[in-house]
Amino acid sequence: MPHNLLTTPPHLPLVAPSILSADFATLARDARQVLDAGADLLHVDIMDGHFVPNLTMGPALLASLRGALPDAFFDVHLMVCDPAQYLEPFAKAGADHITFNIEPALDPRAGTGASPVSAGFDPVELMARTRDLGMSAGFAINPGTPLDPVRAWLAEADMVLAMSVEPGFSGQAFMAEVLPKVQELRAALTDHQRLQMDGGLSPDTAPACREAGCDVLVAATAIFGAAEPDRAAQIAKIRG
Ligand code: DX5
Ligand code: ZN
Repeated sequence: MPHNLLTTPPHLPLVAPSILSADFATLARDARQVLDAGADLLHVDIMDGHFVPNLTMGPALLASLRGALPDAFFDVHLMVCDPAQYLEPFAKAGADHITFNIEPALDPRAGTGASPVSAGFDPVELMARTRDLGMSAGFAINPGTPLDPVRAWLAEADMVLAMSVEPGFSGQAFMAEVLPKVQELRAALTDHQRLQMDGGLSPDTAPACREAGCDVLVAATAIFGAAEPDRAAQIAKIRG
C-alpha cells in the first residue's frame, strides 16, 4: 500500500480546502496558494446535476490539476447518483482518495430528479474497488441520513464523511443538529479510521466539529472567501 495521508498515523487534525470556492480561472494557482498557506490536502467536489442540483468538475479537470500539483493529495467527493462509473476515471486522473455519497445505495431514486438515476450499488464492493485502484476509500452521509442503515458498511471505510449542509453548494450555514450523530459515528469507528466533516466550517464552527471527533475538516468559503494573506490564519484556526 503506498503512503496515504489519510491512513497513515498519527491522526492529527487535517484541513482540506474545497476548491469549489476557488477562482476557476486561476485554479492551479489558488490551489497552490492554500497548500503553501498550510492546507494538508485538497477536497474536490464532483456533482452530476442529478444527485444534487449543481454541476462542477470532472476527471479532465483533476488530471490538469494533478499535472500542475504533482505532490498534492486530492480527496475526491463524489456527489453523484452512479459513483461506480467514476472510480476508474478519477483514479487515472490522479485522485488519492474517493468518498462517494451513500444515499443512492439506500434509495436508487435519491437525488433531485424524478427518474431513477441509479441502479443502486454495493458500497463495500465500491470501496474495495477504489482501494484496488490504489486509493483510499470512504463514503459520505447527508445531514438527514441516519446511521443505522449504514452501520454495516462503516468498518470498510478508511474515512467517513459527515455532511453538515445539504450537498450541492458552498457557502451554506453549518447545521449544528448533525453533531450528536457525528459523536455517535466517532464512537462506531476505530482509531485508524478518519472522520471528515464538510459544510459551513469556519474558525467559529470548527471547534464543535473537532470536539465531536472529526479529524479532517473541509472548508471552501472560510478559506477561499478570505483574502489571500488571511488564508494561513483561517487554516490554522480551523485546525485548532
Ligand atoms: C457541498 C460540498 C462542500 C462545500 C463546502 O456540497 O460538498 O465541500 O464545498 O463549502 P463551504 O465550506 O463553503 O460550506
Ligand atoms: Zn465536499
